[in-house]
Amino acid sequence: MLKAIVVAALAIDASAMPTGNVERDYNTNLEVKFSVADGFLDTPIDGRIVLMFAPSEMNPLEDTDVTSSPNKIFGKNVYDFGPKNTVILSGGNNDSTATNVFGWPNVSMSDVEPGTYSVQAFLTRYETVTRSDGSIVSLRFPCGDGGLNVNGFGSLTTSTTDIEITGGAQTVDLVFNKITAVEAFTGKEIGGCNQGNYEDTETLKHIKVRSKRLSKFWGRDVYVGANVILPAGYDANDTKTRYPVIYNQGHWPAGQGAYNYGDDENFTAAWDSGIIPASNTTAELPTPKFIVVTFRHEAPYYDDSYAVNTANLGPYGDAINEELIPHIEDTFHTIRAPYARVQDGGSTGGWESIANVIYRPDLFGVCFSSYPDSLDFHRHQDIELYTATNAYQRANGSFVPSIRTFVNDTQKVLATVAQENHWELTFGTSSRSFNQWDVWNAVFGVQGYNGYPLEPWDKVTGEIYPEAVAYWKPFDLSDYIVTNFNSSRNLGAALAGRIFIYVGTWDNYFLNEGVIEFQKRTDAVGGLGWANVTILPEKPHGGNYQTREIWDYLKLVERWVKDHAPDGSNPLSSSSTAPSTRGNVWEDVVAYGGRGAAVKRQADPKIKADKAKVGGEIIASVGRWDPGVRLSAQWILNSKPACEYFRVEQGESVNYTPTAKGHVQLLVTGEKRNYVTETRKSQRVLVGK
Ligand SMILES: *[C@@H]1O[C@H](CO)[C@@H](O)[C@H](O)[C@H]1NC(C)=O
Ligand SMILES: *[C@@H]1O[C@H](CO)[C@@H](O)[C@H](O)[C@H]1NC(C)=O
Ligand SMILES: *[C@@H]1O[C@H](CO)[C@@H](O)[C@H](O)[C@H]1NC(C)=O
Ligand SMILES: *[C@@H]1O[C@H](CO)[C@@H](O)[C@H](O)[C@H]1NC(C)=O
Ligand SMILES: *[C@@H]1O[C@H](CO)[C@@H](O)[C@H](O)[C@H]1NC(C)=O
Ligand SMILES: *[C@@H]1O[C@H](CO)[C@@H](O)[C@H](O)[C@H]1NC(C)=O
Ligand SMILES: *[C@@H]1O[C@H](CO)[C@@H](O)[C@H](O)[C@H]1NC(C)=O
Ligand SMILES: *[C@@H]1O[C@H](CO)[C@@H](O)[C@H](O)[C@H]1NC(C)=O
Ligand SMILES: *[C@@H]1O[C@H](CO)[C@@H](O)[C@H](O)[C@H]1NC(C)=O
Repeated sequence: MLKAIVVAALAIDASAMPTGNVERDYNTNLEVKFSVADGFLDTPIDGRIVLMFAPSEMNPLEDTDVTSSPNKIFGKNVYDFGPKNTVILSGGNNDSTATNVFGWPNVSMSDVEPGTYSVQAFLTRYETVTRSDGSIVSLRFPCGDGGLNVNGFGSLTTSTTDIEITGGAQTVDLVFNKITAVEAFTGKEIGGCNQGNYEDTETLKHIKVRSKRLSKFWGRDVYVGANVILPAGYDANDTKTRYPVIYNQGHWPAGQGAYNYGDDENFTAAWDSGIIPASNTTAELPTPKFIVVTFRHEAPYYDDSYAVNTANLGPYGDAINEELIPHIEDTFHTIRAPYARVQDGGSTGGWESIANVIYRPDLFGVCFSSYPDSLDFHRHQDIELYTATNAYQRANGSFVPSIRTFVNDTQKVLATVAQENHWELTFGTSSRSFNQWDVWNAVFGVQGYNGYPLEPWDKVTGEIYPEAVAYWKPFDLSDYIVTNFNSSRNLGAALAGRIFIYVGTWDNYFLNEGVIEFQKRTDAVGGLGWANVTILPEKPHGGNYQTREIWDYLKLVERWVKDHAPDGSNPLSSSSTAPSTRGNVWEDVVAYGGRGAAVKRQADPKIKADKAKVGGEIIASVGRWDPGVRLSAQWILNSKPACEYFRVEQGESVNYTPTAKGHVQLLVTGEKRNYVTETRKSQRVLVGK
């Protein structure tokens, strides 16, 4: 979850569906025709055009947030676009978001009210790659920009122009005439997406490695980096003094130092001097001494990979934990033992930090996880994912809220799950928007048969697919703990005392709901307080663990490390960090959720008999398809249709009574948004007398 600042000022009516039709007294027949300026492209490209209409004279990028943007945003995928090929955007609907225009808050460009708008478009390029498991996907690989949802490094853009929309037939010509360069980003990476790096300072070092595992998986070079903050007194020549490390998880930190905490001058001054200044309540104190590491793991699908191995993003967990961290430990004077490897972070980083301790008790000692993304999918934010039938609307018709704030103790909903998902859909189809709900689909879900994340619900309607949700189980952290409590991983004993979680009851993204579910289920198997969960009343999303002041927090972490050191009061046992505790093993993850599994899930229709008789009923299965694929079927007798196509549900059987001798066969056609429509055939069965 992005640690966005939630503004109360512009509340959207939570009951308004963004896709509804209203009466209007104009009929905008607007076409926007795109071309590419001479010399900007050598060969045609694939990607997504995102077109924005902002209020007159406003920079369309000034506010694109779902809670507050005044823009109208429209997106469309393009294939083989430019240098000479043009493309027209017009109309729009929610039926085929891969080939049509889809917009927010109005689905169609025909719904743009007449008036003057500040207009700009962006073209995100997709690169088609073949993964090592054989699937072919078109994705954006971010490149030193932190995985932006629009206008990232290498995007084509048009000039921003004020344009009058008349409300009648109108064609607007827009030309892509700029490329977003690395200079556009603060703290730019020298060399962009390659081995280049940020400039070091005395106490802030930058590390970057080409990940062998990720590069092999993606069939292209993929790098992961880290920003390493050294404590006061660190001496590169002193190999005897070694430090514990805090792995501070979270979003793309660019070249910065302590991303999640201490970005204030007083913290930095004290950190660098090693002395916490005296106040009128405490005397001068030495600072706790840690090496603090933040990761740069921008990935296809998001500004960070969620730091675990996943079927859709690849072996990022291993890239970080098995390649980057060993390199850090070879380069800096760290204590190479689990008790001295701490995971922390908030929100996305909250999930990443706890997941890394749960999956890798052999590597990391403890996590201090703040307001983490959904730990338990009984509540995915406020969606009851395992039992609800729709992710957007509850049984009583109310819309599921997604972002909230509290004004005078009263909850105010700033966006619903439906609004946010529809807004995301303008930025990319097949979970490629580089936004929150989409990356959750990519991280928690398996790969669909189309090569992209198998989405847990229909992104337009919100209809939940229970089978797709069931595949999320290995990333439901409380389910994983319960399942492995007494398994050979023995997590019940191994992880006791190593998980610290904090969340506020006013969490702006309802993340407290998942924490409560996690606590309930882990308490049920481990006893009250098996995981140390703090739920603070009326606290929003943000801040350090337990809303502590930074030094108070670091002292708490320092205490834990001291207590669990070999000479401490409560040393971490070798059995609790044994290799057998390890989970999220890449080979298992890709076998469960990659291409092979997607192919294996499919089956052709099948007639349940080897022979048939004229006048005798035969029965057939319709085959197996991915969740959400809509089916229609047709019987074929002697190579001719024996009936019209008819609708059939997945899992249903169909029957037919042949009327003549010869051969009978069943055809089933499956359609799903962003899937190739496909017809599968049963075997041909002989019809005798
Ligand atoms: C377009 O969206 C705005 C904002 O939600 C809404 O007020 C307006 O009614 C919509 N227009 C149409 C024609 O749907
Ligand atoms: C470390 O040692 C090298 C030579 O061995 C020396 O040049 C350098 O200044 C030393 N650095 C520090 C921080 O003492
Ligand atoms: C730093 O400390 C000074 C003196 O205590 C204080 O006035 C100032 O507000 C502090 N700065 C920040 C960013 O907290
Ligand atoms: C500490 O000093 C500040 C001014 O530096 C003052 O405002 C505050 O009241 C003092 N607090 C106590 C507990 O004395
Ligand atoms: C619908 O149900 C939700 C949760 O179950 C509840 O918070 C909401 O108040 C209900 N809305 C109506 C209109 O009954
Ligand atoms: C919050 O309460 C204060 C004091 O009662 C009042 O002045 C203010 O208008 C209220 N704000 C909102 C947004 O209701
Ligand atoms: C899809 O769009 C159409 C027309 O724009 C609208 O009538 C319909 O309600 C939308 N469907 C959903 C599920 O939003
Ligand atoms: C784990 O094993 C213990 C001892 O055999 C048993 O009491 C407990 O119920 C088991 N817990 C789970 C979650 O399987
Ligand atoms: C939970 O951890 C906090 C520190 O975050 C500590 O103060 C508290 O005593 C712990 N609770 C239990 C039950 O161990």
